[in-house]
Amino acid sequence: MWLTWRDAMEHALYGDNGFYLRERPSGHFRTSVGASPVFAEAVLRELVAVDDVLGAPPAIDLVDIGAGEGVLAAGVLAAAPPGLRSRLRVTGVDLARRPARLPEEIRWTASVPDGIHGLVIANEWLDNVPVDVAEQTADGPRLVLVDPSNGAERLGDRPQDADLAWLARWWPMRAAGERAEIGRPRDEAWTSVIAGLVGGRAVAIDYAHPVDDRPPCGTLAGYRDGAVVAPVPDGSCDITAHVALDACAAAGERAGAATTVLTTQRQALRALGVTGARPPVEQARSDPRGYLRALARSSEEAELIAAEGLGGFGWLSQTRFPVARPG
Ligand SMILES: C[S@@+](CC[C@H](N)C(=O)[O-])C[C@H]1O[C@@H](n2cnc3c(N)ncnc32)[C@H](O)[C@@H]1O
Repeated sequence: MWLTWRDAMEHALYGDNGFYLRERPSGHFRTSVGASPVFAEAVLRELVAVDDVLGAPPAIDLVDIGAGEGVLAAGVLAAAPPGLRSRLRVTGVDLARRPARLPEEIRWTASVPDGIHGLVIANEWLDNVPVDVAEQTADGPRLVLVDPSNGAERLGDRPQDADLAWLARWWPMRAAGERAEIGRPRDEAWTSVIAGLVGGRAVAIDYAHPVDDRPPCGTLAGYRDGAVVAPVPDGSCDITAHVALDACAAAGERAGAATTVLTTQRQALRALGVTGARPPVEQARSDPRGYLRALARSSEEAELIAAEGLGGFGWLSQTRFPVARPG
């Protein structure tokens, strides 16, 4: 059976007994959320800034899209100061079931809600939104088809016109044999987020590449049990592809985003106070326990901002700030 990559990913990840409906993501790969609670603290700082700009409304949303095991949503809720916590509505969005032991006040839903007033965070969501793969031939781009049982590939039809237009604008292929992941479904997914944002900020964080530096062979990869494996879409592993966040940014602007910042996690977290600075050595003598705690924290911060690692992720941040909240 030959499927397009988009259909194969959809089925392998989210179909009956699909990878994400069955598995705990943290058993297979490490994200910033799992790396350190420092990440949730930084997201809380971002939420506080948004709350401030919105004028501390009676209710403020934190919506975690692709919330996985709910660790980020629960971490922000637990760390929120009382004056914010009493107004905070936390929603986890995931196709996977509500995690066990998630605090009761966190709502759990399978689709992006409407009417969001606050902060949306989507950490490593878009790279799991299924995409088609195209390969350049002497006659132009053709879709790549895959056999889900073993990952074998062959060429299929020309992509549809909208996908050809996306490729021409966002991922032009030059030489025969080059491959591209057609990011249109990610643009649409992000559009639904910006459209659902009544006021506030939406942040997508992911492996990303810019239009002038797309990888010529694409980035499709599999992960299982903490290791990179061949991307066979049989449901046994995660299937992921880096994100054209610049294309998502343009889609967000068309959907009504008023401001756009596209930067790296390193820059974004540094601006939120995550610097990786080590404690002063004198503290080792005056307060050895505090020193060890501070040292552990600084190495967690360093991991989150490491340029060659998590710090190299893209942060797409877009806002909609209405003057006043109705009601
Ligand atoms: C790589 S995991 C990230 C989990 C978590 N955000 C973290 O950083 O650890 C991606 C998550 O996105 C979810 N997901 C993918 N597509 C989705 C969709 N269309 N709607 C809701 N959740 C989705 C998957 O089920 C999975 O839990």
